[in-house]
Amino acid sequence: MTFVVTEQCIRCKYTDCVDVCPVDCFHEGPNFLVIDPEVCIDCALCVPECPIDAIYEESDLPEEYADFIQINAELAKQWPEITATQDPLPDAETWADQPDKRRFLILEAEDG
Ligand code: SF4
Ligand code: F3S
Repeated sequence: MTFVVTEQCIRCKYTDCVDVCPVDCFHEGPNFLVIDPEVCIDCALCVPECPIDAIYEESDLPEEYADFIQINAELAKQWPEITATQDPLPDAETWADQPDKRRFLILEAEDG
């Protein structure tokens, strides 16, 4: 079992989830965070911290987000750890309640 960050986080990245994690299992991409399923200890502390409810326990994951299990596992291997809360992305409020954000997921920072 693990916890999974889903598409609501994309373009927001509030990062309130990071400070409460006792095992530093969050990894940061340009506009999304993921949880390393091999490190997560299922404490559930991060779930209520996210202001837009982007994090689910794997067993509670809505069907529409099922592919985010794999997305979290793969990107956690590629992206660096994030261990402290930081400012959200500048347009976070605008994007917080937008649907279908997965098409905006950026996998790598653009050069320049
Ligand atoms: Fe970290 Fe606990 Fe959330 Fe897993 S469930 S990501 S260990 S805070
Ligand atoms: Fe994303 Fe919510 Fe954490 S928006 S960065 S999962 S607090």
